[in-house]
Parts: sequence; C-alpha cells; structure tokens
Amino acid sequence: MFSKFKKPDESKPALAAVPKTAAPGLSAGKPVTKSLMRALPAKVAEAAPMDKEKKRKERLSEIKLELHKALLDNLNLAALEKATEADLRQEINAISTETLEQMGIVLNREERQTLNQDLYFEVTGLGPLETLLKDDSVNDILVNGPQQIFVERAGKLQLTDVTFKDEKHLLRIIDKIVSAVGRRVDESNPYVDARLADGSRFNAMVPPVAVDGSLVSIRKFKKDKLAIDDLVRFGAFTEEMAAYLQAAVATRLNVIVSGGTGSGKTTTLNALSSFIDNSERILTIEDTAELQLQQTHVGRMESRPPNVEGKGAVTQRDCLRNALRMRPDRIIVGETRGEEVIDMLQAMNTGHDGSMTTIHANSARDGVSRLENMVAMAGIEMPIKAVRSQIASAVNLIVQASRLQDGSRRMVSITEITGMEGDVISMQEVFRYQRVGLTPDNKIIGHFTATGVRSHFSERFRLWGYDLPTSIFEPITG
Ligand SMILES: Nc1ncnc2c1ncn2[C@@H]1O[C@H](COP(=O)(O)OP(=O)(O)OP(=O)(O)O)[C@@H](O)[C@H]1O
Ligand SMILES: [Mg+2]
Repeated sequence: MFSKFKKPDESKPALAAVPKTAAPGLSAGKPVTKSLMRALPAKVAEAAPMDKEKKRKERLSEIKLELHKALLDNLNLAALEKATEADLRQEINAISTETLEQMGIVLNREERQTLNQDLYFEVTGLGPLETLLKDDSVNDILVNGPQQIFVERAGKLQLTDVTFKDEKHLLRIIDKIVSAVGRRVDESNPYVDARLADGSRFNAMVPPVAVDGSLVSIRKFKKDKLAIDDLVRFGAFTEEMAAYLQAAVATRLNVIVSGGTGSGKTTTLNALSSFIDNSERILTIEDTAELQLQQTHVGRMESRPPNVEGKGAVTQRDCLRNALRMRPDRIIVGETRGEEVIDMLQAMNTGHDGSMTTIHANSARDGVSRLENMVAMAGIEMPIKAVRSQIASAVNLIVQASRLQDGSRRMVSITEITGMEGDVISMQEVFRYQRVGLTPDNKIIGHFTATGVRSHFSERFRLWGYDLPTSIFEPITG
C-alpha cells in the first residue's frame, strides 16, 4: 500500500502489521494510538449537546496528531521530496484511511477531507510552525529544541503548547526550509540564515553547537508594514516627532535608526522611507530583504552567503559599491554591521545624502561608537579624530528605537549630530521619551517631550519648505 513512500526500515512496527482484529488502541508498539484511544470514547460519551462542536474539533485535532505521527513513521521522507502533489495526496489518503480503520474511528466525508488537507499541509508545509506562521498576532517564533517553542506577541515572549515530535522532526523542517533556498545545514555547517517563502527571516543553529536541540528564530514578515500613522497611533512617537522626521527625510538628511534587537529598527526605517518623494530612485541593500517601500522607483538588493564550496558570496559591501554606479538618489542599507560602513559613510559624504540605515546600539552616543568600531574592524587605519569627523559630517540624525520592559516599542530619543568639538562628536537631543513611573501592573508611565533645543537644521527645513512651528520644539513641563 505504501509502496512508493514507505520507509524501507522495518525496525519500527508499521501500522499495517497490526492485526485488524486487535482491540482499538491496544496494539503493541503504538503508544500514540493508545493515548488517543483512551481519551476518545470518554470524550464522545461525555459530550453535552452544546459542547459538541468544541469536542468534535478537539477530537479532530487529536486524530490529526496521531495520524501525523503515523505518517512520519511510515512515509519515506526522502522519496516524498520528489513526489507529485497527486501522488502525495493519494498516499496520505491511503495511510489515513488505514490508520483510522485500525483506530476504529469513523469520520464523515467532510471531516476526512479536512483531515487529509491538514495532513498534506503538515507534510508539505512547515509542520507545527505553520499555525504560528499564520497567526498574525505573532511577531517572532523562537524554537529551543523540539519541545519548547516561544512566540513574541505585543513585545512579550510567551511559551506555546506547540511542539515537534522530536529533534529529527525539527531537523527535517529546518532542512526543508534551507534546502529550498539552496543552503545546507549540518554538523560541519551548523548555522544558517534563510528567507521563508512568505518573506519571513529565518535563522537556525543545529546540534552539537546548539546544545539542547536545534535553535530556530523566525522574524515574521508583515505584509502590511506599520506606517507612520500606525506608529503614532501605537504611541511609538508623536505627531510632532513625525512632522520633524518628515522634514528630515524630505530635506535629505542622512538618518540612522539605532536600537537593540527586535526594537523596531527595520519597521521605523520602512516607515521613514515613506517620506521620500516618489520621483526619487531608491536602492535598498539588505542581508534579508525585509523592507517594503511604497515608491515606484525602487531597486532591491539582497546579499548572498558563500555556497557549500565557499564561493559566490556577495556581501552588503559589494552591493553597496555596485549601487553607487547605479545612479541612486537614495541608498538604504537595512542594517550596517560590518565593513560596508566605510562605503556607507563615503556615500553619505559624497553626494548620496538622504541615505538611511540602521545600527545595533543602545543610544545615539553608543551608535557613534559602534560606527567607529566598525570602521576600525574594517581594517582602515585612520586616526580616531579623522574617523569621527567622517562620521560627524556623514550622519545628521540618530533615531533611537527601544523595546521597553513592558513590551512597548518607542522612539525614545531623536538626536542631531551637529559637528565636532575638539576630538568629540557633538550632538543634541531634540526629542525624548520621558519615563515617570510604573503602574501596579508594570506598564510604563511616561510621555514624549521636546528637549527645548532649537533644531540645528531649522534653517534647512525652512529653505526646503518645511517650516515647522516652533511650538513643536517646546518641552512639556509639569
Ligand atoms: N511601534 C511598534 N509597535 C508595535 N509593534 C512594533 C513596533 N515596531 C515594531 N514592531 C513589531 O516588532 C517586531 C520587530 O520589529 P523590527 O523587525 O522592526 O525590529 P528590528 O529592531 O529591526 O529587529 P532586528 O534587530 O531583529 O532586525 C516586528 O514584528 C514589528 O512588526
Ligand atoms: Mg531589523
């Protein structure tokens, strides 16, 4: 029956080997079946009419779990990769019919169809991760070995009840994802970055480097990226700050969004890009293409790691150098994290103003140090003062994003770089988030305020037609 896809390995008792006359659930070597059979009759018997629908759903999901385990035990997964959809559906149908028969479970036609469809997705999709990927309230999915899957919702991490059958099952899903993009992950090459078919960012690390089972991190791709209005509505920043940022982007200041991991840097960068005029030619460079610009004239580039022979790498720096020959009006680098910093600073300093990027840092000052370090790490031997003056003349604005302890994401500071004073880069904070306390349920109390300084770029804004009212720079008192 399972001719094409059945495992050659007969060490595990196949379901077909169980005598059909055996009492349901008592078949040896199938604890999964047993657990289901213990639970099922009781549930069916107890079901009150109003609970019927709920119970039916529960029962179906339990059956699905059992059947999925049966499928994994019985299908030859290697052959499955090459199977046609029709073959696979037929095979799943056959296995599920036989398994249901052995379990003594009778389903109606519709239930059977739903079940088989779900199983098909289980086998062809990303298994237990599918439901989490489809859940729009989930931002991140974090797998710590087969039995522990966390998700991040609204800035908070939560443990889910979703699990993989075992490490082998988890590895199979990882392998499926990375092989789809022509990568490999194994003991000799234990970590990998990839992009899922839906655009989500994916990273995996497998044992033995991952000690307690494979580690997977997924940043879900949001089809509808948060726009400026959404961010204002969610309290990430104020309308006044948005007006200021609009002036900054439209008048081509070079902007860096700084922040910790998952603080909302990419989201902020994406939202800021909406202030770029539609007539401009924008080139974006990313390690994993996440940005979704609304403009018409956008060229997107994605760097590429080396292949298994260690060849064919295209770095962000390669993309950036090439981008400079592609007549860009603006260059947006998703995240500056290495040697591309040199070309980024040079581009910002030599006519490609209005460029934007993000960096991983905890404050504007820290962001500048990060840039200095990246320059040093890139092997450029330049006196620190020269590096700083490059940075000071390249970068105009640092926007600091932060995920606060209550899960809220806010733009905690907007800082202008005003030049050099001696050896030191001078900067002034224009807006900040002022924390004042904590509610009993640990929500942060605070408000945004201007710091009272006059923007270094006021005159520029005015000349470009962005005459911001002075009131937006007045601090909130009291
Ligand atoms: N102000 C906000 N309010 C609510 N959700 C937000 C906000 N900003 C970002 N998010 C959500 O938080 C998640 C992380 O955001 P984002 O990818 O922008 O962070 P990041 O700082 O670029 O992360 P990484 O360091 O991993 O690149 C996303 O799912 C995004 O939709
Ligand atoms: Mg990011």
